[in-house]
This record gives sequence, C-alpha cells and structure tokens, in this order.
Amino acid sequence: MPKLIQYLFLSAFIFTYSSVLAQQLPDNDSDYVDKLCENRFNYTTNSNFRTNLDQTLGILPTTNSGYGFFNSSSGRSPDTANAIALCRGDTERIACGDCLNRSIVRLRQECPNQRDAAVYYDNCMVKYSNESVLGKTEITNFITHNSTNYATDGSRFHQDVLKLFGNLTAEASNGGVLKYATGTVTGPNGTVTYGLMQCTPDLSNQQCTNCLNDAVGQLAKCCYGKTGARVLLPLCNLRYEANRFYNDVAVLPPRPPPSSMVGTGGKSNNLTRIVTSIVMTTAACLIIGVTIWNLAILRKKKLVEASLESKITDISILEFLEYSLDTVLAATNNFSEDNKIGQGGFGSVYKGELEDGRLIAVKRLSRDSGQGEQQFKNEVLLVAKLHHRNLVGLLGFCIEEKERLLIYDYLPNSSLDKFLFDPTKRALLDWDTRYNIIEGVARGLLYLHEDSRLRIIHRDLKVSNVLLDDDMNAKITDFGMARLCKPDETQGNTGRVVGT
Ligand SMILES: *[C@@H]1O[C@H](CO)[C@@H](O)[C@H](O)[C@H]1NC(C)=O
Ligand SMILES: *[C@@H]1O[C@H](CO)[C@@H](O)[C@H](O)[C@H]1NC(C)=O
Ligand SMILES: *[C@@H]1O[C@H](CO)[C@@H](O)[C@H](O)[C@H]1NC(C)=O
Ligand SMILES: *[C@@H]1O[C@H](CO)[C@@H](O)[C@H](O)[C@H]1NC(C)=O
Ligand SMILES: *[C@@H]1O[C@H](CO)[C@@H](O)[C@H](O)[C@H]1NC(C)=O
Ligand SMILES: *[C@@H]1O[C@H](CO)[C@@H](O)[C@H](O)[C@H]1NC(C)=O
Ligand SMILES: *[C@@H]1O[C@H](CO)[C@@H](O)[C@H](O)[C@H]1NC(C)=O
Ligand SMILES: *[C@@H]1O[C@H](CO)[C@@H](O)[C@H](O)[C@H]1NC(C)=O
Repeated sequence: MPKLIQYLFLSAFIFTYSSVLAQQLPDNDSDYVDKLCENRFNYTTNSNFRTNLDQTLGILPTTNSGYGFFNSSSGRSPDTANAIALCRGDTERIACGDCLNRSIVRLRQECPNQRDAAVYYDNCMVKYSNESVLGKTEITNFITHNSTNYATDGSRFHQDVLKLFGNLTAEASNGGVLKYATGTVTGPNGTVTYGLMQCTPDLSNQQCTNCLNDAVGQLAKCCYGKTGARVLLPLCNLRYEANRFYNDVAVLPPRPPPSSMVGTGGKSNNLTRIVTSIVMTTAACLIIGVTIWNLAILRKKKLVEASLESKITDISILEFLEYSLDTVLAATNNFSEDNKIGQGGFGSVYKGELEDGRLIAVKRLSRDSGQGEQQFKNEVLLVAKLHHRNLVGLLGFCIEEKERLLIYDYLPNSSLDKFLFDPTKRALLDWDTRYNIIEGVARGLLYLHEDSRLRIIHRDLKVSNVLLDDDMNAKITDFGMARLCKPDETQGNTGRVVGT
C-alpha cells in the first residue's frame, strides 16, 4: 500500500512540477516582427473610441483563457474596442505575459490613431479593432516575411514545405483548445526545415483549416523557394525556418483558483497560484491515499479468503465471452506487425476490428498461465464481471491451441504516458482533465479493492496502464492479471512483480 501512496505523490509531483518550471525571465524587445496599422479609419485623442481602447487593452492581459489566448471588449458600437492576443503554443506563461505587455506598448506607438491595428512578435500577437475580431475569418490584410536565402532546388523545396504544412494543418486544426502544431521535413540533401502553425482557439476545426489553407496559399506568391518565411493573419499564422526556432516545452495552463477562493482574491499573484496549486494537489492526493490505505488495512484479512470464495456455474456467460481463434485472427490481420499497438509485461497488444466494425484490443499472453483451461476460463469470467467506468472492459477471451488471448474495448486515445511525456500533447491536459484522471484512477482502484466482489490488487499500476477514453476519462487496464497469469512470474517487462 505505501507504493500506492508513493505513486499518488509522484503523480502530484509530476503534475505540479511543470507549472513551477514554466517561468522565465522577461526578454527585451528584439523579438518584435511587424505591425499592421489599418489607415482607413482613425480616431482622435478625445474620442470615445480612445477611452474604450485604453480600457480594453488595460484588461486584456488579465483575460488568459488558460491556453495563451486573450480577448476583451469595451464600449458600444460604433466605438466598441475589441481586442485579442495569442501567444505561440510553446510560450511559457510568464514570457507570454511579458510579450503581451510589450506588444501593447509597441502597438500604441506604432499605430497611434488607427481604429484597427495589430502587432506581431515572435512569441505573441495583439490585435484590436472597432469591428468584431473573434471568429472573423475573412482575410482583409496580412503580413508575409521571407528570408534572404534561396534553396538550391526551389521547386522541390516548395513541394516539401507544402507537404509539411499539409500535415501540420490537420494536426493544428484537430488540436482541441490549443490549435498549435510543429514539425519538420527533411530535404533530399539532408537539410531539415522546421515548421509551425497555429490558430486562435475560438476557431472551429474547419475555420482553422480554412484559415491555414489561406496562409499556405500565400506562400507561392511571397516566399517561393525561400529557406524561411512567415505568413501572419489575424486568427492564424505559419512560419518555417532552416533552424529550430520553437521550443519543445508546452504551456501548462494555469490552474483555475478553487471556487471557494474566487470571491476573495480574483487577482492573486502567480506565486500564490503556484503554491496553492502544489498544496491543493498534494493535499488531495494525500487524502485519497490515506483513505484508500486505511480502508485497505481494514479489509486486508478478508483478502485471502475472498480469492478462494467464488465458484463458477454460469456456463452460458462463458460461451458468450468466448471468441474463436479464427475471429481474432481475422480481426487482427493474423496478428500483423501493423496492428501491434503495444508490448506489456504479460504479452503483446494488437488492435483489431470485428466483422461488425467494433474496434478491439487483443492481449496475447506471452506465457502459459500455468492454469488448466477450465480454471483460466473461470478466472476470465470473474474479471469480466468487474464493471466500472474507470476500468477497461474485458469483452472476452480466446483459448485455442497454445493461444491465450484477452479481448478488451479499444481506446483510441491510448495511455496516459503518451500524453504526459509528449511535449505537445501534454498541453491538452489542463487542470480539470488532470484532476479528473487522478480521481478516475483512485475510483477505479477503490472499486477493485473495496466495491467489487473480487478484491483485486493491481500490482502493476503505472501511467502506461492508465488508458484514456474519448472524453479523457481514466480507465485502468491490466487489472486481474495476477489471476490470469502465473502469480510468481518474473518476466522481463514486469520485472519484480510488485515493482510499480
Ligand atoms: C535582447 O536580447 C537578445 C537575445 O534575446 C540579445 O541578443 C540582444 O543583445 C538584447 N538587446 C538588448 C538591447 O538588450
Ligand atoms: C490615419 O492616420 C494616418 C497616420 O497616422 C494617415 O496616414 C492616414 O491617412 C489617416 N487616415 C485617414 C482616413 O485620415
Ligand atoms: C468602425 O468604425 C468605422 C469608422 O468610424 C465605422 O464606419 C464602422 O461602422 C465601425 N464598425 C462597427 C462595427 O461599429
Ligand atoms: C504586465 O503588466 C502588468 C501591468 O502593468 C503587470 O502587473 C504584470 O506583472 C506584467 N507582466 C509581466 C510578465 O511582466
Ligand atoms: C541542401 O539544400 C538546401 C535547400 O535546398 C540548400 O540551402 C543547401 O545549401 C544544401 N546543402 C548542401 C550541402 O548541398
Ligand atoms: C505527413 O504525414 C504522412 C502520414 O502521416 C507521413 O507519411 C509523411 O511523412 C508526413 N510528411 C511530412 C512532410 O511530415
Ligand atoms: C472572450 O471573452 C469573453 C468574456 O469577456 C468570454 O466569455 C469568451 O469565452 C471569450 N472567448 C474566447 C474564445 O475565449
Ligand atoms: C521578400 O522580402 C523582402 C523584404 O525582406 C521583400 O522586399 C520581397 O518583396 C519579398 N519577396 C517576395 C517575393 O515578396
């Protein structure tokens, strides 16, 4: 049990660590890129618009949506001042705020009397207008920049760049709240080109795709064969360079203040937020951990008896759960390498599609379970009867020839480690999602330990055994394996059986 507490502490640590790291010293103004002052309509010093603009730009930096996107608005039409700001997806929170502050100062200097204006920095952009800005995708004006150097084979290079941006467009558009993607393309002589695309999060996937397509469409005109370029639109932008100009570190969205504190200190400073976030997360994990531990001690004695308790009579359910080897072979394309999606301590995992179109994950046990056929079936039946929203459902099994297969629901989002340790995907785990995952894991464990008929100790709980469904709910997998495989097995990937 102390392992579990260690685990929860470790998660609390990982979950808060990145937010502590997300601090950086402010830069100077050398990352300024360009401005776009729309000269059609000007305002005067004593106008209503001026007052509204001062106000809206004043509050803009405090409106972070959590993903480096800001929007604010004040005043009535025709003098409404609408403003948005967007930080590049890899910009840390402090650097983002600093970039915004400098942008706003620079914007007032560069465009002193325009009713519609924007400035662009490497790490952020700010735009205001008396027209609405949010969701307005038709392009009126934009900025392009190109490097001085030409690629040796311009036409080939251009094709590569278009291919890269084709991929990045899809990735950024489907990026959820953070519509941001980076990637590389390698030319025929081994030169690497680095690309980046981003949309504001208020755009729908389709709007983002359209906006980025418009941006890509400009490349042929502005920047054909150039080794680096930018196309800057109000709601999306792209950039590519011959050097790696972006960072891996993704923004960790700030944790929203706990609801009980909202009334008193809406504008608490960053340090307070970070400290609060550490304390709250740790406390929450501690409480969950201690609770589970206490409950577990209470029940510990019953554990041994419980595992012996059940006798299975329900043969019809067993038949229902049993899949023929032919079915599984057809679904997984004869366990082809292409279908392999993982390798775990107990064997390989393959993705498969049943005839009715349902997606399954098939675990092919690598070792003889050391059990007779009937005993294996009985254990499968017991595990299959465990149902909880935070457990991966066991759909069935197959035992034919030497094969022992377990068939599960397929979860397209894969496992937690794929998110936690991927710099881009990590940003999708906002605080609500993280809490939901932690809570889901705890609930799943509580069910296994306390509320199910079986009382199963997982013995191999780790982030790769926490799968995520479409709504990013945690689902524990590989539970009950000790019952289905030889308990004292010490196979390579699992190592010491209680190691994690
Ligand atoms: C601004 O920062 C850049 C590096 O970020 C540095 O090269 C440049 O010298 C700095 N300029 C000033 C005026 O501090
Ligand atoms: C707005 O002001 C700019 C200079 O700040 C000037 O160039 C432009 O002609 C003005 N536009 C109108 C419509 O007066
Ligand atoms: C923005 O300002 C211009 C010039 O004053 C005006 O013609 C236009 O109607 C305004 N737009 C809105 C949406 O109020
Ligand atoms: C941005 O400006 C505001 C108001 O002047 C200030 O409170 C804040 O600390 C600044 N943020 C950064 C990162 O410099
Ligand atoms: C490789 O190709 C790039 C782009 O076409 C060009 O800029 C560079 O000079 C080439 N390098 C060599 C070593 O040929
Ligand atoms: C684009 O995506 C396809 C499929 O994922 C991949 O095969 C290709 O290498 C990618 N191209 C670039 C330039 O990233
Ligand atoms: C813009 O700001 C308003 C509140 O001022 C907020 O309700 C809205 O969700 C924001 N829109 C986006 C896309 O962040
Ligand atoms: C590339 O940028 C330069 C200025 O940096 C500009 O003069 C030139 O017109 C641009 N090239 C194209 C094709 O737009």
